[in-house]
Amino acid sequence: MIGLKIPKNHADEIRRILLKYSLINLKFKIKRSKDFVYIPLIKKLEAEKIKELNFPSFEIIETEFEAHNKQPKSLKDYLKNKISSDKIIEIKKSFDIIGDIVILEVPEELENEKYLIGKAALNFTKRRTVYKKNSNIQGVIRTRELEYLAGEDKSETIHTEYGSRLMIDVRKVYFSPRLATEREKITNQVNNGETIIDMFTGVGPFSIAISRNKKVEIYAIDINPDAIHYLEKNIILNKIQGKIIPILGDVKDVLKVKNIMADRIIMNLPETAYLFLESAIKSLKEGGVLHYYEFSHDYDKPIQSVLTASSPRKIKVLNKRKVKSRSPGIWHIGLDIMIT
Ligand SMILES: C[S@@+](CC[C@H](N)C(=O)[O-])C[C@H]1O[C@@H](n2cnc3c(N)ncnc32)[C@H](O)[C@@H]1O
Repeated sequence: MIGLKIPKNHADEIRRILLKYSLINLKFKIKRSKDFVYIPLIKKLEAEKIKELNFPSFEIIETEFEAHNKQPKSLKDYLKNKISSDKIIEIKKSFDIIGDIVILEVPEELENEKYLIGKAALNFTKRRTVYKKNSNIQGVIRTRELEYLAGEDKSETIHTEYGSRLMIDVRKVYFSPRLATEREKITNQVNNGETIIDMFTGVGPFSIAISRNKKVEIYAIDINPDAIHYLEKNIILNKIQGKIIPILGDVKDVLKVKNIMADRIIMNLPETAYLFLESAIKSLKEGGVLHYYEFSHDYDKPIQSVLTASSPRKIKVLNKRKVKSRSPGIWHIGLDIMIT
């Protein structure tokens, strides 16, 4: 292969000039001996070009250069010439990474390419497993159908968020890594000494984040036995035994039987939380705070839901935010509301 042999003391200067004129073959590595540097060239330099470049000292030689073993760096690199770049961007936006599992959406027209996309996602993310979303989040326990695409077909993993370690089986329980910031926001509002009800706890991401940071007592309730199973494991994993009381059951039944009065109640079941507002408000102390979530295109609808259920008690909206997008125009709305 054609290269340029230059004395070490001129190497930097000449390399910069060659780079400027795009004459270096970047697929190969520059090599060095004691006194010389050897630069791979894309082509033999013509006499005229050599004159123009005006190198202080050099020799054009024929020699071997070692190739860079350049790995593809992006999903685009992996899928180049196979899938259009706008589709790749769409797929990438759908990525959820939970521990060592990637969950992604494959557009319908790319169904035949799904295993290729799965393999590319596996290589690109360096995770263990790739699943494809085959349905929306659905049913009482809020899970979705997942189809195995690549890696090891193992749906249990440990996810870390803001220092909390969460063991999850993505096929059996609800979990969204996209709520990490929301959990941090709620944790920051909690005061030591509070009694809290986490009405729809899942594997306990809110309860665990709060208990790791504050001295509290949390009643963490869920109707899904697998969620409570993982919550119990997560309490041990995070060494917070004694702060969370896991309860399996329908929250309405649980609150009827257990006479808990809370300073704070978390209601992260945005699809149907409004059906549980009356039970929640009965269990909230005067001046207690409700973290209420609802899917809506604006703030008015969820605020109205809380207002109606709280009557005759008064409400004060402390904060309102769009937690994440649910579908075009519909938001996962979060409200922090004090009930006096
Ligand atoms: C959207 S997930 C939220 C889980 C968790 N808070 C989180 O952020 O990951 C809602 C949870 O509510 C539970 N759930 C649904 N209906 C329930 C009910 N009537 N009583 C108790 N839990 C219920 C589901 O099993 C599910 O785990």
